[in-house]
Amino acid sequence: MQNHHLANQPLNVKSTDTYDIWSKLFHWISGTLILLLLSLGFYMTGLDYYDKNYNLAYTSHKYLGLLALLFGLAQLCWLFIRKTRTAERFVPGLPKWQLVAAQIMHIGLLIMILLIPVSGYMIITSNSQEFFIFDLFPLPAVLPENLVSDSMVVCLHFSLAYTTACLALLHLFAALKHHFIDKDDTLRRILF
Ligand code: HEM
Ligand code: HEM
Repeated sequence: MQNHHLANQPLNVKSTDTYDIWSKLFHWISGTLILLLLSLGFYMTGLDYYDKNYNLAYTSHKYLGLLALLFGLAQLCWLFIRKTRTAERFVPGLPKWQLVAAQIMHIGLLIMILLIPVSGYMIITSNSQEFFIFDLFPLPAVLPENLVSDSMVVCLHFSLAYTTACLALLHLFAALKHHFIDKDDTLRRILF
């Protein structure tokens, strides 16, 4: 299948067969965490305070969210230091507009991977409260007292989460379209 694509490839851009292993790992770990946190976030805010899952849901959301921040930062570092150039990571012969659209989408998703946990962090440390990881290590409040209200940071977190859900859906549709309609290697390259 690869040879067929190589035929359409501009001479000056060689293409790799797949994404490197680190890019794949980071993509699926960060992606899964984001999708999990979106569902957990929407689920838990619908719970009654006296629901038996209330505490567990909020606590796991906070820790998984902090984990998503760590993976997001590590992923970003990797994207900066890896050697493959942009065109090499996509299937050869891709129309220019799709290359640009995919890149804008990736930048958007990466910004969200970082901004959502940061805004979540702002929720739990608003009012200058410290947040204790497993009751041991304090995470300091980042915002000066009374700069923004609780509801403003919750609203920010919520809007970022909604935007990400829409972007991720579009991203998923694009991947499925490449796989099932165009029948190219776009999805396979990041899968295995
Ligand atoms: C990628 C990471 C994250 C995603 C995708 C995410 C997603 C969400 C979503 C969808 C909601 C529900 C919003 C609503 O309906 O009001 C929510 C609420 C919340 N999130 Fe996150 N979140 C993330 C990270 C974090 C982090 C790191 C923290 C804190 C450590 C956090 C703390 C909270 C809190 C406290 C709420 C409840 C807000 C309220 O009172 O309504 N989140 N999150
Ligand atoms: C729902 C399942 C998902 C599928 C099937 C999927 C599929 C893909 C595919 C095929 C690519 C490479 C080509 C391209 O589309 O541009 C890719 C790249 C990427 N995706 Fe996803 N994705 C999914 C979820 C997500 C989520 C939830 C996020 C982040 C919130 C995300 C962020 C990214 C990023 C940042 C890249 C660029 C990776 C790099 O350059 O190493 N993806 N994805």
